[in-house]
Amino acid sequence: MNLIPSLTLLLLAEFAIAVGKIDNKTFEATNTWQEIKEGQQIPAGLHVRINLRTGKKEAKLLDHNEKEKNENNALSEVADDVNEETKHKVTDKHKLKFSSSLSEAIKSLPKDSLGLTYSPEKLRQIKRDFKTYDELKKSFKDFQKNFQTDAELITQLIYQYKNLTKDEQELSISLKTKITTQLRILEDLDYLVHQIDNALLFIDKGGLEDIILPLVVNETNINLRVKGIRVLGALTLNNPKAQIKAFEKNVGAYLSQILSSSTNTDELSATLYAIGSILRKFPMASQRILSTSGVQALVAVLSKQCDLKVKAKAVTLISDIIVEKKLVLSKNEDADSQLAAAQYAELNLPEWLQANGFCDAVDSVISTNLHELLHQPDLMEYFVVGLENSAVICRPIWSKSAQLRHTLLTIKNRYIYEKEEYRKELAEQIEKLVGVLYNSEAHDEL
Ligand SMILES: *[C@@H]1O[C@H](CO)[C@@H](O)[C@H](O)[C@H]1NC(C)=O
Ligand SMILES: *[C@@H]1O[C@H](CO)[C@@H](O)[C@H](O)[C@H]1NC(C)=O
Ligand SMILES: *[C@@H]1O[C@H](CO)[C@@H](O)[C@H](O)[C@H]1NC(C)=O
Repeated sequence: MNLIPSLTLLLLAEFAIAVGKIDNKTFEATNTWQEIKEGQQIPAGLHVRINLRTGKKEAKLLDHNEKEKNENNALSEVADDVNEETKHKVTDKHKLKFSSSLSEAIKSLPKDSLGLTYSPEKLRQIKRDFKTYDELKKSFKDFQKNFQTDAELITQLIYQYKNLTKDEQELSISLKTKITTQLRILEDLDYLVHQIDNALLFIDKGGLEDIILPLVVNETNINLRVKGIRVLGALTLNNPKAQIKAFEKNVGAYLSQILSSSTNTDELSATLYAIGSILRKFPMASQRILSTSGVQALVAVLSKQCDLKVKAKAVTLISDIIVEKKLVLSKNEDADSQLAAAQYAELNLPEWLQANGFCDAVDSVISTNLHELLHQPDLMEYFVVGLENSAVICRPIWSKSAQLRHTLLTIKNRYIYEKEEYRKELAEQIEKLVGVLYNSEAHDEL
């Protein structure tokens, strides 16, 4: 069985999901994975995953065991694409508004969740958060009634936010109220700037300089800082013009600085999201940011006292850039892609990664987290994909690591006897990886 790297979402039974915008045919689920076409409605309660290789969403019927599991705890597995690619930019603004799309369903979940199996307490919290998000949508809708266009809305939000920068006494509100209001405004902006045009308007109106940068650079309240970083990620996600603007403001250095100094899971997670959004398909920024403090900061995350999922995100981000470079260099037909190829060729990832001890750090993260990885296949999958993609650089080191080999084999041996198909597939993928890393000499030129 060929395992496709994927994120698996077991959707809340209450979600009625509509993806995209083109047509409205209902998805016909079967027992095998099928791609969900743009605009197809998916009935609730299906197994949905995002194929990391193609970026497409796929769904199938739950099998019997999963159904039971699903009934017991509605949301047993929730995933968020590491790079949040799943949150497609939608240029048609009317379609995005409060349609209950998959991207919104994902968006409504905690952003740093990485496909983990949650404890009952965590599940309750997610459901609470989901409710809060519903309320938020409602209040946003009320607010929205007074304005005709997103442009007016964004202008108004910026105005309100700036109005709040006076001190509390002058505003005659408590600090708590002030922060709550700022967070609310940022939440609305986060929502709005997922659209390319809105993001550019927000930047034109000075939102990047006046709101986001001060939050990222100077804010002391961590909730506000994290929210600001998330808006930065949303602003630049799949938005080349916004990526350039943010890059010009030296955001890469600020974000690298946060990655180096923070130990807060939410903050690290948001920062990886933002830095990933800025680097993606932007070789010049990758070159500049990664060659200076970027790689060092990303590798430093691997040895921090923080959630393992944050480390999985860091490894995935690096592995994505390796893949991106490989893809561009493998197909340089037209002039545009030749230019891009020339820029990617400048990305000296092997050297930067080796200089910063990336390969040893990854080995160490995996080898010292055997217990957690045995219980978190979704997380393990990120590492496996990361190892596969980075093997081209790290094989000389990993192939000599007995502890890494032992860890991979232990996990594989556990997964292979599990009933769940997903773990079996993952076990096969690990087996292949072990073959690549530890078997024949023929792979030297990998
Ligand atoms: C699908 O779209 C057509 C025309 O746009 C509409 O008449 C129909 O009611 C829609 N069906 C569903 C299930 O929304
Ligand atoms: C701006 O702040 C003042 C108080 O300083 C307040 O009276 C006014 O309503 C605020 N305007 C907006 C649009 O929030
Ligand atoms: C951060 O604070 C310093 C000192 O007050 C100030 O000079 C700088 O402009 C601020 N940076 C941003 C991006 O607001």
